[in-house]
Amino acid sequence: VSGPVRIALAGVGTVGAGVVKLLDTQADLLERRCGRRFTVTDVSARDRGRDRGVDLSGMRWHDDAVAMARTAEVDVVVELIGGADGPAKAVCEAALAAGRHVVTANKALLAHHGTALAGRAEDAGLTLAYEAAVAGGIPIIRSLREGLAGNALSRVYGILNGTCNYILTAMRETGRDFDDILAEAQTLGYAEADPSFDVDGIDAAHKLAILASVAFGTQVRLDAVHVEGIRHVSALDIEYAEQLGYRIKLLGIAGRAEGGAIVQRVHPCMVKFGAPIAHVDGVYNAVVAEGDFVGSTMYEGRGAGQGPTASAVVGDLMDIAAGRRSPTFGVPAGMLGTLPPAGMDRHVGAYYLRLMVIDQPGVFASIATALGEHRVSIESVLQRGRNPDDVVPVVMVTHETQEADMLRAVARIAAHPAVVERPTIIRIEAL
Ligand code: NDP
Ligand code: HSE
Repeated sequence: VSGPVRIALAGVGTVGAGVVKLLDTQADLLERRCGRRFTVTDVSARDRGRDRGVDLSGMRWHDDAVAMARTAEVDVVVELIGGADGPAKAVCEAALAAGRHVVTANKALLAHHGTALAGRAEDAGLTLAYEAAVAGGIPIIRSLREGLAGNALSRVYGILNGTCNYILTAMRETGRDFDDILAEAQTLGYAEADPSFDVDGIDAAHKLAILASVAFGTQVRLDAVHVEGIRHVSALDIEYAEQLGYRIKLLGIAGRAEGGAIVQRVHPCMVKFGAPIAHVDGVYNAVVAEGDFVGSTMYEGRGAGQGPTASAVVGDLMDIAAGRRSPTFGVPAGMLGTLPPAGMDRHVGAYYLRLMVIDQPGVFASIATALGEHRVSIESVLQRGRNPDDVVPVVMVTHETQEADMLRAVARIAAHPAVVERPTIIRIEAL
């Protein structure tokens, strides 16, 4: 193969502009490594007049990204528009139908349509590459799919959303307001177009569904992911977590359960200070993969932002330039398994419980009774200070218990007249 790799770029926002910059800055280095140059010949975005901080003057402009994907004389279409459906999906489908490889950073698209798109690409002998879609700059897809290919994996988990990790870190370090920190993450180009995707755990769920498919050779099943975000995590919980020796992280966890099911869950977790992942802060992501021969491996790096994401996109372009190919999700699309998802009712673990209660004699006894009657055993209790007849926080850590029991006990506690707010429950994760 010779001659430049011709690229059509759909979307020139944070990531798209980063790709143009990287390809320009590193042109000689990339050529030395793969023997070919890269040239962006065609480009599409919404607003032609917008200054993107990069020079697009030598490229053909298209108002219609889908028509560009269908007609441009290129080798690869790079989709950096975003969104599970709409133009992003149409661009990828048009590109594959026209015989072009596709590189995308779009986890929403792959979480919803990954298995079908992989089938189309593989049937046509084309690459559908998406390293940037999971954990930004960390080459985690390659690591799982190629580097750990000799292992049966039992569990993969990590901090998969840079915006949430940035918010939780800044809340802990500065005590600043949630909305204020989110606005900063948006300015830095970390947040999704709709930031509720970040803070409600949806973006992490998209990434986990993709990771689980690669790790376990199963179809991408976003509908099987249990999802909770970070909106209910308060500054008070972060402070109590510190006192108890934990950090609060939004984790995505996928692992094998009894009967061959795969459990996929995204929710805030309390993680012991001693766990390496507890110290992954700011926009950094980390993924831990546990294999039968390799043991536990951890990968860490920036999970969002222009440079790291462009780095991952260009890694994919280098594979295409060099002719390196793997099945999209590690196993040919038609052979991906359909293992049944597992629910959370049978989840077993310890729990942090924070109640806001009226400071009166007998209240704690009622709470302890409700827990005991549902087989929930208390490991420790924190109630600092007194505030007779006013509201005080009561914080408890339980021993390992089954989630269904814990939820029944907490529902009963929440109905007690002295409990004034919805109880906060955070799972404690033994990592
Ligand atoms: P931006 O919002 O910054 O950029 C989106 C681009 O798509 C803009 O250039 C926009 O045009 C263009 N666009 C929107 N609609 C159309 C359309 N119908 N036709 C053509 N172009 C269109 O998003 P990001 O760069 O942040 O994200 C791009 C993708 O990368 C998303 O899938 C995102 O989830 C993913 N991603 C982002 C990361 C990040 O850190 N930002 C990290 C990892 C993945 P215009 O500029 O004219 O408005
Ligand atoms: N919004 C995403 C995040 C971008 O914050 O992690 C990277 O996928």
